[in-house]
Amino acid sequence: MQNFLSILDLDPDRIAKLLESAAKLKRERVKGMKAPTWNALNGKHVGLLFEKPSLRTRVTFTIGVRELGGDIVEIPADVMHADREPINDVARNLERWVDAVVIRTFGQERLHQIAEITPKLHVINALSNEEHPCQALADMQTLVERWGSLANKRIAYVGDGNNVCTSLVHSAMMLGIGVNVATPKGFELPDEVVDQAGEVSQKGAGLTEFTDPKAAVRDADAVYTDVWTSMGQEVEYAERKKTFKRYQVTESMMALAKPGALFMHCLPAHRGEEVSDEVIESPISVVFDQAENRLHAQKALLIEMLKQGHGWRR
Ligand code: CP
Ligand code: NVA
Repeated sequence: MQNFLSILDLDPDRIAKLLESAAKLKRERVKGMKAPTWNALNGKHVGLLFEKPSLRTRVTFTIGVRELGGDIVEIPADVMHADREPINDVARNLERWVDAVVIRTFGQERLHQIAEITPKLHVINALSNEEHPCQALADMQTLVERWGSLANKRIAYVGDGNNVCTSLVHSAMMLGIGVNVATPKGFELPDEVVDQAGEVSQKGAGLTEFTDPKAAVRDADAVYTDVWTSMGQEVEYAERKKTFKRYQVTESMMALAKPGALFMHCLPAHRGEEVSDEVIESPISVVFDQAENRLHAQKALLIEMLKQGHGWRR
């Protein structure tokens, strides 16, 4: 696989294989340098270029590359200022030095622009305004761990129809998991994503949209939420806080879901906004499993993307 800009760059079989590989990497992590993958990225350089803050994505890619025997280079975000040099020049420079670049940026089109101008460079989307595919891989790994079989399962996503929601819907549809999405009016998933969900859906999994969060959560096997104000939308914070008030995932909302339903969040979380403290701290919350699985799922992805090819030091 050349680039990973969207979960739609994969098909259901390839997602399933990546999840198997991620589970194996998780089991074998305790072996340290005795793990069979300890040198899988020998001679490979991976650049990290983040135009927005990150804890989980930055740390898990850094550790992941190192545990696979590769090198990380941190690229400061100020190199992306257009008045310094064109982005296309930044990208073509990087292509001469590194094997892959992990980019967190604003518009998804910027990732496509970089991928197009650098045919040899592997480009990985570490979150854009529109999609967060690495998060979706870890989320699916978490659900496989918890549920075993994904058959006849349904996730309710409550909140903003944002990047995390898009990649969750894409991945769930491909794995045959139904999704209910509840958003306020004006914050729905883009029409294009709803169409894509229909196109990639497997095993009759359906996407159903709601404005009433309680209706969406009823009988769900998992309830997922994310911040109401994503990075880059900070000026809208006060207004969004008012608009999304009734979308907070609370214990009474969770009580409408199936008994034993999981609570999921990509983190960072704002307690008292999209989720109550009681829910995120309760035993049904799998948020730290999701965070841990970022490491394993991304290691599986890196091996899949970089196992062939040059490796500058070979
Ligand atoms: N979930 C997630 O992507 O976290 P960070 O923003 O900390 O990387
Ligand atoms: N929707 C959030 C996700 C953070 C991981 C954002 O884009 O800020």
